[in-house]
Amino acid sequence: MLRKLKSFDIQSRRVLIRVDFNVPIDNDIVIDDYRIRETIPTIKHCLDQGAKVILMSHLGRPKGKINPKFSLMPVGEKLAELLEIPIKFSQDCVSDDAIDVSHNLQSGEVHLLENLRFYSEEIENNNEFATKLSKHGEIYLNDAFGTAHREHASNVGIVHHFMHKGIGLLIEKELKFLSDTLKDPLAPVLLIIGGAKIDTKIDVIHNFLDLADNIIIGGAMANTFLAANGYNMGKSLVETDKLEIAKRILLDASKTKTKIILPIDFNGELDEFGSGNLKYANYDDIKKNMICEDIGELSVNLFADIISKSKTIFWNGKIGVAENKDFAFGTEKISIELLRMNVLQ
Ligand code: 3PG
Repeated sequence: MLRKLKSFDIQSRRVLIRVDFNVPIDNDIVIDDYRIRETIPTIKHCLDQGAKVILMSHLGRPKGKINPKFSLMPVGEKLAELLEIPIKFSQDCVSDDAIDVSHNLQSGEVHLLENLRFYSEEIENNNEFATKLSKHGEIYLNDAFGTAHREHASNVGIVHHFMHKGIGLLIEKELKFLSDTLKDPLAPVLLIIGGAKIDTKIDVIHNFLDLADNIIIGGAMANTFLAANGYNMGKSLVETDKLEIAKRILLDASKTKTKIILPIDFNGELDEFGSGNLKYANYDDIKKNMICEDIGELSVNLFADIISKSKTIFWNGKIGVAENKDFAFGTEKISIELLRMNVLQ
């Protein structure tokens, strides 16, 4: 049973909160603060109760190296603006200085730590790193809904270091929404699932077999499914060690009412990522030097048609390499389709 924030006595306590501040930043300015605003109720509740708040998050994928491009400093500025109070910022999430700042916080103060992923130990779920992080707080809360599927130090390893731990208001709200909707979903039910790695999504897909009428698979994961079906995916990202899992999912699905729908055309590049040598191809005509990075217009139309006929829709993960504007087409078009139907939560 997950303990909810409002059941804790947090007055004068150091509350360490894992949030998901993975927001787009351009020229040191946050250009979409949605995820930050989503955490405000949790932070405000803690502050109103006289807690000392320490926030930690990742931003992008800096691959374990300090990189100013992925600094959370602009997020700190946006957060201070939204909370209308100054906040403290530490340039290293586990330094002695940063831990001292947390220990010296006063009730009602906020301390934001620099990007967790400046340490590769974060994504390795390293115990020593988790131990250091845990020193910031006396109570641990996870409110990083967008990162809940990861097995990282700040959301998995760390929980073993706390007697008092629970979830924030955002995760509570999302879980309620999911369980209410899943109890009695209006059919046809659609799951749209993207992202790169099958591992992190297998359980979701399995849980939706027989529940969903359709499962649309996008992102690099779709490459692995097409490869499992025997198609040549050129130089695209394919998890060759997961082909058997993909085949098993397709077989399991074939025994249920659930249809799995894969992209039928792709945009991508030739030779290597970032070559800028753009290429379009159908799924059964991928050249051996092509890297599929986004779905094409035919797939968008196919997916849009299924979306328009669905009554309950769950979406998890990007459809292409959406952080690159050349390959954001699929994700943008699907978002527009969902917005048009007024189903985005
Ligand atoms: C997201 O944006 O999907 C989450 O913040 C998780 O980020 P990640 O895919 O880099 O782990």
